[in-house]
Amino acid sequence: MMEIPRVGPLPNERILVAGGAGYVGSHVAWLLCRLGFHVTVLDDLSTGHRGAVPDRAEFIRGDARDRAAVSRIFAEQKPTAVINFAALSLVGESYRDPLGYIAHNLAITLNLAKASVESGVSSFLLSSTASIFGPDAAGPIAEDAPIRPGNPYGESKVMCERVLHWLEVASGIRTAALRYFNASGALLSGSLGEAHLPETHLIPIVIQAAMGLRDHVDIFGNDHPTPDGTCVRDYIHILDLADAHVRSLIALRTAGGLRYNLGSGRGYSVREIVRAVEELTGRRIATRLRPRRQGDPPSLVACTDRVRQDLNWRPVHSTLPTIIGSAWKWHADHPYGYDAQAA
Ligand SMILES: NC(=O)c1ccc[n+]([C@@H]2O[C@H](COP(=O)([O-])OP(=O)(O)OC[C@H]3O[C@@H](n4cnc5c(N)ncnc54)[C@H](O)[C@@H]3O)[C@@H](O)[C@H]2O)c1
Repeated sequence: MMEIPRVGPLPNERILVAGGAGYVGSHVAWLLCRLGFHVTVLDDLSTGHRGAVPDRAEFIRGDARDRAAVSRIFAEQKPTAVINFAALSLVGESYRDPLGYIAHNLAITLNLAKASVESGVSSFLLSSTASIFGPDAAGPIAEDAPIRPGNPYGESKVMCERVLHWLEVASGIRTAALRYFNASGALLSGSLGEAHLPETHLIPIVIQAAMGLRDHVDIFGNDHPTPDGTCVRDYIHILDLADAHVRSLIALRTAGGLRYNLGSGRGYSVREIVRAVEELTGRRIATRLRPRRQGDPPSLVACTDRVRQDLNWRPVHSTLPTIIGSAWKWHADHPYGYDAQAA
């Protein structure tokens, strides 16, 4: 087992967080700032929000596909590590524009990787996804399960992971790819949370229905090979996810080639999530049965043995009451996301 000392930042340690105004990136940036790291957020705000960036972070609005701009930013900011959250990440949309998705996500990772080599960055961490494993993956899914992406979005992340491999071989920059299952929940205070437009993630959709902001929740197929016929997913609380990023960053000081599947290790069906939100909020939620979606895996559940063993990581917030409770608080306090705050 790798020893992960819970030490703070090294002197002059600056983390460049690409996509740090988005859902996952803003929570990780928040935790890094809290722990005393210097943080620079680079984000074009295409799906992110200025109001999600922590006050203590430096914010640069820019497109990470712009090679010259990225080089300039690295020369000025001199980051020691890079975390790349910036990507297009809607599976359905990726079928409509597969090449656009691949080009966008690959260009960002390639640019950040090239600038990292030029400017002496020592570690590089990528947001990857369970979608790299594909529709026929049988859970719990370990890191060495076959990589067989069932959609263009997942394919783009496989390509980004391959960039990391060659970055490490060619430059010695140590890399980590964290394959998230379903990121969920919010800061326990409810001050930071999930605000995607359009929202495609189940838990915020069910909560919006409970709040009366939607009239129903669509259920895509009830004949999947799962206990109640609806899709099963593994929900990991955003704070557990953020903790895994910090542990990975620290591990990257001495080790490279890190690849971790990040989930709670337990799956819940769509119907179980709807029921849990009904129980926690005391509100009735209408559902509507729709056909299965193209390439939707029946079940995606992580095997988390490797990350537990290597990083001594444990999911401490990833229970349904904490996930749904924190998300409910965020949505109740910010029914229109960050925009209402800005208005
Ligand atoms: N949310 C999940 O459950 C989940 C699951 C698996 C993987 N992921 C991955 O995690 C990462 C973050 O996901 P999220 O849910 O926070 O998404 P998000 O859309 O909230 O965040 C992505 C951020 O990247 C920014 N961005 C996009 N293109 C950019 C560009 N060209 N230049 C600069 N900034 C750009 C957006 O403005 C946004 O702030 C993504 O890479 C996604 O593929 C997320």
